[in-house]
Amino acid sequence: ERTRIGIVGGGPAGLMLSHLLAQQGIDHIVVEARTRHEIENTHRAGILEQGSADLLLDGVSDRILTDGDRHDGIDIRIEGERHPIDFQELVGASTYLYPQTDVFIDLADRREADGGDIRYGVGPAQVSDVESRPLITYSDPDSGGTVEIECDLLVGADGSRSVCRGAIPEQHRTAHFREYPFAWFGVLVETPPSHEELIYSRSEAGFALVSQRTETLQRLYFQCDPRERAEDWSDEQIWETFRSRLNFNGFEINEGPVTEKVVLPFRSFVSEPMRWGKLFLAGDAAHTVPPTGAKGLNLALQDVRILGDVLGRWAETGDDAMLDEYSGRCLDRVWKAQHFSYWMTSMLHTTADDSGFDRKRSLGELRMLLESDHGRAWLADAYTGWAGKALA
Ligand code: DHB
Repeated sequence: ERTRIGIVGGGPAGLMLSHLLAQQGIDHIVVEARTRHEIENTHRAGILEQGSADLLLDGVSDRILTDGDRHDGIDIRIEGERHPIDFQELVGASTYLYPQTDVFIDLADRREADGGDIRYGVGPAQVSDVESRPLITYSDPDSGGTVEIECDLLVGADGSRSVCRGAIPEQHRTAHFREYPFAWFGVLVETPPSHEELIYSRSEAGFALVSQRTETLQRLYFQCDPRERAEDWSDEQIWETFRSRLNFNGFEINEGPVTEKVVLPFRSFVSEPMRWGKLFLAGDAAHTVPPTGAKGLNLALQDVRILGDVLGRWAETGDDAMLDEYSGRCLDRVWKAQHFSYWMTSMLHTTADDSGFDRKRSLGELRMLLESDHGRAWLADAYTGWAGKALA
């Protein structure tokens, strides 16, 4: 088989790129190792920047306007002391609470309705010849035979354990890493949201985040040791932990049946460059952020927005020089989001190993920020994704 653009990975990044290429009439194929059902049942983050919502609203689905929830701010708490951050007042922007699974469902439905060639449950795919004539190879799950797809260009949107990234010779890529001495314990809880806005709570007992999914489902996280195993925790232990980090000054978290528990590792990672030869990396294949601030999905969508633009102009002109822009344009935003995610994380989490100096310094930083109009505006600007600022 032959196609112009071969896309490995059918998560939100791969499918959004497929949509953007289809809008421009560019022939492509998407291969994805997981089934559609498996992807739909993987719970990830839930906050979209306006720029990400705009991508969905441009021909994918309007469902975010009805089923999503516009959030005009967040609430930061220090031992229960409330510091609302009003995004609209500060920077005239908002975010949307719209779970990643819904983003995926909208994209998968749109590609199906538009007749896209999206092959779920095939693979794992192998890739080769990424400098000359990229080839995707996988074994067909029905016949067992080998399928080969020759492409002009190859896109690796295949997640943090990317096979495509491994096709770039080691001497031509640099991996930047940072590890953190904690993780998040995430739960889904069958009760209505406890508060209208998201609560990011710093406390002596550790960090906790109060988010939501629907009118009857909450999404909550607490900071934990990365070696914790979710199955070792009883509901009662989970609720004791949340109470100790959230129930101050009359606030009480809504408790209910825990329907899912998961430990999320924290890592900062960037692999540079994001393009090598005829291979382009997008989303988690190229970078990971710690979850604080929910930038991961937004970065992935902005990568493919840029890639859709670059590939559209390349297809129109046949000029390979277009392709040189991709990595630099993405990395500019990626490093800003890396800083933001690292900074939100470091200001809101403490560990037993922190010195008294470390604790008090980061608390000083947080208070200085929250007490300044400029500080809060800076936070609002970054959190909402620099909406209204010139996009790379
Ligand atoms: C959610 C996750 C985040 O990392 C965050 O900063 C806010 C919300 C969520 O899953 O809802």
